[in-house]
Amino acid sequence: MLHRVVYVSESVGATAVSTQSLAEILGASDRNNRRDHLTGCVLFHEGRIVQAIEGGRADIDRLVRRLLVDPRHTGMRIIVDTPISERLMHEPMALCRDPATMMRRTGLTTLSRLTAGDVQAMLEYRLAA
Ligand SMILES: Cc1cc2nc3c(=O)[nH]c(=O)nc-3n(C[C@H](O)[C@H](O)[C@H](O)COP(=O)(O)O)c2cc1C
Repeated sequence: MLHRVVYVSESVGATAVSTQSLAEILGASDRNNRRDHLTGCVLFHEGRIVQAIEGGRADIDRLVRRLLVDPRHTGMRIIVDTPISERLMHEPMALCRDPATMMRRTGLTTLSRLTAGDVQAMLEYRLAA
């Protein structure tokens, strides 16, 4: 059974702004997620992080446990945790390169009070893009 988990968090220090730290996160994600058959995407915008992860329950839970203790972000809040019949995302961890445009097109002005409905709209926008 596949699951999808989406969380929001806040970046700490240079996490969201330095090319080096982004490259480190995306490098580890690519390596580990391929190994664990996880797919997803991550967005960094004005100090906020939104990450969607799809895969098997045990693999997602193991990643969430690592994320919870990662000092590069804080205030992790899971807003979607649901069984799915098929994946919406097919890359190990894609970076959303233009969050401002995606937010504008989906009618979002801030990521601070993101709901499950907002997340669905963002994922559908990504699929249509
Ligand atoms: C915003 C953010 C997203 C991350 N996403 C992933 C991910 O999708 N997969 C992953 O394995 N690690 C991810 N990490 C890194 C993990 O927290 C952890 O450092 C890493 O999995 C440890 O891997 P290692 O044991 O191979 O060094 C992310 C970290 C941050 C801050």
